[in-house]
Amino acid sequence: MKVSFVKDQLPPAGTIVVMVSPDGGMSDAAREVNDKSGGLLTRALEVNGKRLKAGSFIDLFLPANLDYSRVLAMALSADSKTTVLALEEAGGQLAVKLRSLKVKEAGVASARGLPLEFEPDFVAAKLATGALLRTYEFKKYRTAADDDEDKCEAPSLQFAVGNPDTAEFDRVRTQSEAVFRGRDLVSEPANVLYPESFADACEELTRFGLEVEIFDRAKLQELGMRALLGVNQGSVREPRVAVMRWNGGGDAAPVALVGKGVCFDSGGLSLKPAAGMQDMKWDMGGAAAVFGAMQAVAARKAEANVVGILGLVENMPSGSAQRPGDVVKAMSGKTIEILNTDAEGRLVLADILWYTQERFKPQIMINLATLTGAIITALGSEHAGLFSNDDTLAERLIETGGVTGDRLWRMPLGKDYDKHIKSDIADIKNVGRGRAAGSIAAAVFLQQFVNDRPWAHLDIAGTTWSSRDLPLCGKGATGFGVRLLDELVARYYEA
Ligand code: BES
Ligand code: MN
Ligand code: ZN
Repeated sequence: MKVSFVKDQLPPAGTIVVMVSPDGGMSDAAREVNDKSGGLLTRALEVNGKRLKAGSFIDLFLPANLDYSRVLAMALSADSKTTVLALEEAGGQLAVKLRSLKVKEAGVASARGLPLEFEPDFVAAKLATGALLRTYEFKKYRTAADDDEDKCEAPSLQFAVGNPDTAEFDRVRTQSEAVFRGRDLVSEPANVLYPESFADACEELTRFGLEVEIFDRAKLQELGMRALLGVNQGSVREPRVAVMRWNGGGDAAPVALVGKGVCFDSGGLSLKPAAGMQDMKWDMGGAAAVFGAMQAVAARKAEANVVGILGLVENMPSGSAQRPGDVVKAMSGKTIEILNTDAEGRLVLADILWYTQERFKPQIMINLATLTGAIITALGSEHAGLFSNDDTLAERLIETGGVTGDRLWRMPLGKDYDKHIKSDIADIKNVGRGRAAGSIAAAVFLQQFVNDRPWAHLDIAGTTWSSRDLPLCGKGATGFGVRLLDELVARYYEA
């Protein structure tokens, strides 16, 4: 899908899209179509009982007295009860509709004239965002010969707007591209995307003006990141940590974003069952979200300081792999008894959270991780789990997630749960009490490596990948977290 924004101009022929309200009210453009066609739209609305479901369409094919081959009237609700997210989802529905009609190009008229709670140009920007996000596909590995069903190219949409030269429209594109980059990384198989190649991708972000440092094994040993290194110990791949910095905010303490980047999680010697193991190529969804967010803030030159830290490893079984029962000393000095090598994400995060906090003294620290299967049991794919030691940060995240569609549900932390990770021989162990409170045990484990700084942990195991189509995303990688973090920075942490 391509989108463009042009000043007040619709194509002279072909397909156009006009907006009507669910109760049959017409936008200026819809009214014009109706007048020129001798009331065709009025009649079509009558046939439909004068009420349309929001997001449904009336398809006027070869309308009389018009040069258009097709006019698609879309029922858009944009009153005071309509959310920004609903507008984006309407854009997604529009894109799906056009694709199913095999329309290659369409002009989208302004919603001006409808009772709108938003500026018409804002509505256009949100429709365009939704259309872009919904039609993303990862087709890199489909060879042309094998691509019959996809012959119909993604449609391109031309939006008629009052002023196409605003930052709003730039952001539609830069933010969607950042989401796509995050989705691409999540979709890549683990033979292509491994710690070193992921780090290479990070280095390419310098073209957006980010400062990027990559730590190799020797540097990680020197730093004492033994918990992270232990996870990678069974792999033939080299581990990496990436540090990306966007300095747009003078000397304010940075916002720190920390991502779990387990490029493949076989479970290690505590090997996972074969069925479903392929999903563990996306056990780097947290790192991908942080990557996308860093690209998004840099691309729009955010007036904020943001650091992104990724722990990039592969969890494999082998003769050199970490064993159940091993004890490692984390960078912070805490000792960890490893009772299950498949609880590896928290080990990676232990060291990079500690490092981030010590080096950057961030004003807030947020980590994202596909951390536990238990969060899927608790919340399904409707919400990611949110754990935080700070109510203000938690509320900001929930609020922002409601706007971007990255929905969060707050889960508890606390002393009672700290007991779940007491070890017999070390300071803590890397598992809790079996099936009881698995996601919370993982969260309180992470909290051991965070001092009193405002911190939030997002367990995105249920939301990074979708097995079905969603309003803003086809099935597959969702890009969960990218827009949430970009918007959070925009709302609360910019000068
Ligand atoms: N990466 C997995 C969690 C996961 C499961 C993500 C399913 C996405 C979908 C994590 O490393 C893991 O294996 N967690 C274990 C922890 C357990 C051994 C304490 C789990 O959830 O089973
Ligand atoms: Mn695991
Ligand atoms: Zn994992």
